[in-house]
Amino acid sequence: MKKAAIAHRSAILHSLGDPHISGVEDSYEYFADGLLITEQGKITHLGDATELLAQYPDIEVRQHLNKLIVPGFIDTHIHYPQTGVIASYGEQLLDWLENYTFPAEAEFSDPQHCSRSAEFFLDELLKNGTTTALVFGTVHKSSVEAFFQAADKRHLRMIAGKVMMDRNAPDNLTDTAQSSYDDSRELIEKYHGKNRLHYAVTPRFAPTSTPEQLQFAGQLLTEFPDLYLHTHLSENKKEIEWVAQLFPDSKSYLDVYDQYNLLTPRSVFAHAIHLDDHEFQRLAQCQSAVAFCPTSNTFLGSGLFNLTKMQQHKVQVALGTDVGGGTSFSMLQTMQEAYKVCQLSGQQINPFKAFYLATLAGAQALQLTDKIGDLKVGTEADFVVLDLAATPLINNRMQSARSIEEQLFVLMILGDDRAIAQTYSFGECVYQS
Ligand code: GUN
Ligand code: ZN
Repeated sequence: MKKAAIAHRSAILHSLGDPHISGVEDSYEYFADGLLITEQGKITHLGDATELLAQYPDIEVRQHLNKLIVPGFIDTHIHYPQTGVIASYGEQLLDWLENYTFPAEAEFSDPQHCSRSAEFFLDELLKNGTTTALVFGTVHKSSVEAFFQAADKRHLRMIAGKVMMDRNAPDNLTDTAQSSYDDSRELIEKYHGKNRLHYAVTPRFAPTSTPEQLQFAGQLLTEFPDLYLHTHLSENKKEIEWVAQLFPDSKSYLDVYDQYNLLTPRSVFAHAIHLDDHEFQRLAQCQSAVAFCPTSNTFLGSGLFNLTKMQQHKVQVALGTDVGGGTSFSMLQTMQEAYKVCQLSGQQINPFKAFYLATLAGAQALQLTDKIGDLKVGTEADFVVLDLAATPLINNRMQSARSIEEQLFVLMILGDDRAIAQTYSFGECVYQS
């Protein structure tokens, strides 16, 4: 049955580009009293409410008072099986993996555990206004099956992949180069391109793959050219030393991936904190993207991401929560932490830049700008209704906010899941506070 058009009336904001490239003023479009019309899951109109309502006087209107509509947030790096280890005390990356993460991931050999975890994880994403994410599963094929089935049931645009990991991990969490290829291929054939689902080839990180396995990862990218590649890069100093020992013939950490043809415009590398100039250049040349994961980088003591240098080299950057190394599902909290990380190295993220990183930049990194990331006519109606009076403190602070820029900054510094009034995916309300 054809669904009738619905008009959402509210303040409305979306990014048009990177403020660093276009200048802040040209980087966004804002309607103080806007109207967003959706029909059959797509955006059909966006504009000034009074003007549009004069053209469509009979349309059904949902009025959102004291709210701000923005595009759904895009989380470009997160691990659904690590939801249960969020907030685990006291370790940096390699010990944290061994002591907390691997034991938690081993539980995903049980398909029922996978399904329950996937549902809880998706509830959390939507509660935080995240409508698309690039998601790690575990080494188990069933973890990704459960995730895709749960996401498809909710008609979400999601990207995921099975972890490829054939060495330097516990026996119950390793595959083989051949089985990782076979299992990934089976998942690709079953789910990639099904409704709103996409597949990402997901070698965990260089230390846990043999050269043979990385070769198979590259082969999958050649066989299916529209796949994503999703992995970790240069997060922690000890990790980097380990990569140098394991791959003595490689010039750098990134060069390991480069040698197996894993640098494509659809590749997303999480962290990328400690890079040399050649690595910055190669990322830019290959148009690969980087996921800046600030809450994880501070929590695991990994280091300070250099956004300025990424901009200088024209590397595409987007934001990731990296739960469970990251400490929040909230992209507002992630914007806050990004702001603080940049402050520590003398860089300021303008609120429009932070907002761009959490929305349109994610779509650019994932090559999905024709579908998500802004509120342009013809794109999919994935959006969030933010509450400008979500808490007494936010409400109080908003009274003295003189511009949309200032309102946005208050939301990113003080906001979290409590600021999400509703989340819409493909035109349907999928979360209501
Ligand atoms: N590097 C390899 N695996 C992981 C992981 O699960 N989390 C993070 N943050 N870094 C990694
Ligand atoms: Zn990660």
